[in-house]
Amino acid sequence: MTDKELLDLAREVRTSAYAPYSGFSVGAALLTRGGRVFTGVNVENASLGLSVCAERNAVGAAVAAGQREFAKLVVVTDSPEPTMPCGVCRQVLWEFSHDLEVVVETLGGTRSTTTLRELFPLPFTSYREGEHGA
Ligand code: THU
Repeated sequence: MTDKELLDLAREVRTSAYAPYSGFSVGAALLTRGGRVFTGVNVENASLGLSVCAERNAVGAAVAAGQREFAKLVVVTDSPEPTMPCGVCRQVLWEFSHDLEVVVETLGGTRSTTTLRELFPLPFTSYREGEHGA
């Protein structure tokens, strides 16, 4: 799966974003280590704080399908510069994959590539690290 293919999927799913409050639609595609892809969009709510980012919805879709090991996240937004995943999403991504490549692109095609380790260098780790429940 190429970056171009992943970005095309994120761009396509972005059109299904539910963002009536911010008007900022986000599409994400998450590539598993095994080569499967799960997509997500932001889903907003009248109670604004309940809005969920595209990245976390992609993680949820993957986890529901039994997939927890991720290689790459791509995100597409309509902004002048590419936007990085928010802090909450960084923590949620870290839960499952530390070596994650992150590719963000604007609708106009401006692209930026980084890693989760760079975005999230000092994560919170559970006081029960290594004791995750079933
Ligand atoms: N949003 C995402 O979906 N991903 C991000 O990385 C940052 C923000 C969404 C949340 C909200 O629906 C809208 O963008 C504006 O913040």
